[in-house]
Amino acid sequence: MSKQFDVVVIGAGPGGYIAAIRAAQLGFSVACIDEWKNDKGGPAPGGTCTNIGCIPSKALLQSSEHFDHANHHFAEHGITATGVKMDVAKMVARKDAVVKQNNDGILYLLKKNKVSFFHGRGAFSKAVEGGYEVQITGAANETVTGKQIIVATGSNARALPGTPFDEERVLSNDGALRIGAVPKKLALIGSGVIGLEMGSVWRRLGADVTILEGLPTFLGAVDEQIAKEAKKAFDKQGLKIELGVTVGQIKTGKKGVNIAYTNAKGEAVTLDADKLIVSIGRVPNTIGLNAEAVGLQLDERGAIVVDAECKTNLPGVWAVGDVVRGPMLAHKAEEEGVAVAERIAGQHGHVNFNTVPWVIYTSPEIAWVGRTEQQLKADGVKYKAGTFPFLANGRARALGDTTGMVKFLADATTDEILGVHMVGPMVSELISEAVVAMEFKASAEDIARICHAHPSLSEATKEAALAVDKRTLNF
Ligand code: FAD
Ligand code: NAI
Repeated sequence: MSKQFDVVVIGAGPGGYIAAIRAAQLGFSVACIDEWKNDKGGPAPGGTCTNIGCIPSKALLQSSEHFDHANHHFAEHGITATGVKMDVAKMVARKDAVVKQNNDGILYLLKKNKVSFFHGRGAFSKAVEGGYEVQITGAANETVTGKQIIVATGSNARALPGTPFDEERVLSNDGALRIGAVPKKLALIGSGVIGLEMGSVWRRLGADVTILEGLPTFLGAVDEQIAKEAKKAFDKQGLKIELGVTVGQIKTGKKGVNIAYTNAKGEAVTLDADKLIVSIGRVPNTIGLNAEAVGLQLDERGAIVVDAECKTNLPGVWAVGDVVRGPMLAHKAEEEGVAVAERIAGQHGHVNFNTVPWVIYTSPEIAWVGRTEQQLKADGVKYKAGTFPFLANGRARALGDTTGMVKFLADATTDEILGVHMVGPMVSELISEAVVAMEFKASAEDIARICHAHPSLSEATKEAALAVDKRTLNF
């Protein structure tokens, strides 16, 4: 006899577990199924984000940044740090503990909100009167029925054709977060978000890092001026990034990896490395979901086809997060999860794709929201730009980190903010102000007229807004 629920959520990543909690808050009986296992075989909800994505990568970025500071920046503060050593095993163990805290926290939240959690793989078995039956296999072996189903099965790393991940020499993001000792030479393919974040971690710890990128431009989706500034900083740090390459044959041996490629000048080159991280994007995951059993429609990339409201082709079946179109970001998945739960309750769930922020957690950090200068040009929009460098910000000087700038793009006629782009210290936090401003359709002048605490990095945001009207006060 199958257990009956109002809502069954498949997947407990940021899209799924948040959808489950919101649906339960709205008074529904909710089941949430997730198959991720921790090293003891127990449940590890949180998905890619918690287990092998956002959280562990930020833990390693933090540890490696402390190491980098001790080695290179303490001296300017008068602190002598000799014999600074990195215990990689301890760093990785700390990262694992941070992950576990998050897994446990999610289990607690599901329980607190009376969501029934099932540890196992959920697969559609059939459509039934007023809903769908889902078969669970794994630690839990049972059948549940939901009047509404939310699919939040996430994504997997994309491998290079002919070069599968062995997680020993050729690593996905999973293996990249479990490297046990600093490799002498580390190669990465793809200078996107993962390439830059993971490349930064291991460079700071002493690896000789080379990133091979297929496109001729660096961070093509980022505002050009910001990408250029970031590239300058990475070059200075010794992060080698080769653009416009065509990767050829990859050979793996006991000692390492040999990568043949053609560089931007058309020359044949080979690169030897101890390990290779392949970070060339991710593919939507519907493995084991048995989508065919109910006729759930997928597109040519394997993503579940949804409309603007996350409705699939099947009545009562929704899909959110990485498994559908749009940016593969945890906060986008969460917003969609909340919106779908609210739509099921007859409310007007809403996700504004124009104000989804992006952050790359390198040093300097890169963050943006809204359109870039090149997009505005392409769209034929008349705009005004204003920039302010952290070099002229008192707090940044006191911190000893003056790289980068804040840049505002505002409509030339109405002054409405169209995009805000940042590279520099703690811009992952500063970007929130820009998101709020854009959600409220603020003008650059609105930000320029708001009192910002002194001394703070946020004053650079205010000054960049002032710069739109060519009236910065401190530059
Ligand atoms: P996922 O998090 O992938 O969760 C899907 C869950 O579904 C998994 O737990 C999986 O086990 C489960 N599942 C799949 N199929 C089934 C099934 N049939 N039955 C039961 N369970 C199933 N995003 C950010 O916003 N900020 C960051 O800093 C960031 N850093 C990242 C760093 C790395 C290295 C990577 C790889 C990604 C990062 N991301 C980041 C992206 C972010 O992790 C994803 O966008 C986010 O996890 C997507 O959430 P989701 O719920 O759609 O899917
Ligand atoms: P990505 O899409 O960010 O970057 C992939 C890069 O690889 C691109 O620059 C692309 O041009 C390049 N590439 C693709 N094929 C190639 C080939 N054959 N040879 C050479 N270069 C090639 O993808 P990435 O870094 O794998 O990350 C996946 C996603 O995970 C991100 O897009 C993002 O959505 C999410 N993520 C988010 C983070 C954050 O928010 N801070 C951190 C890490 C990941």
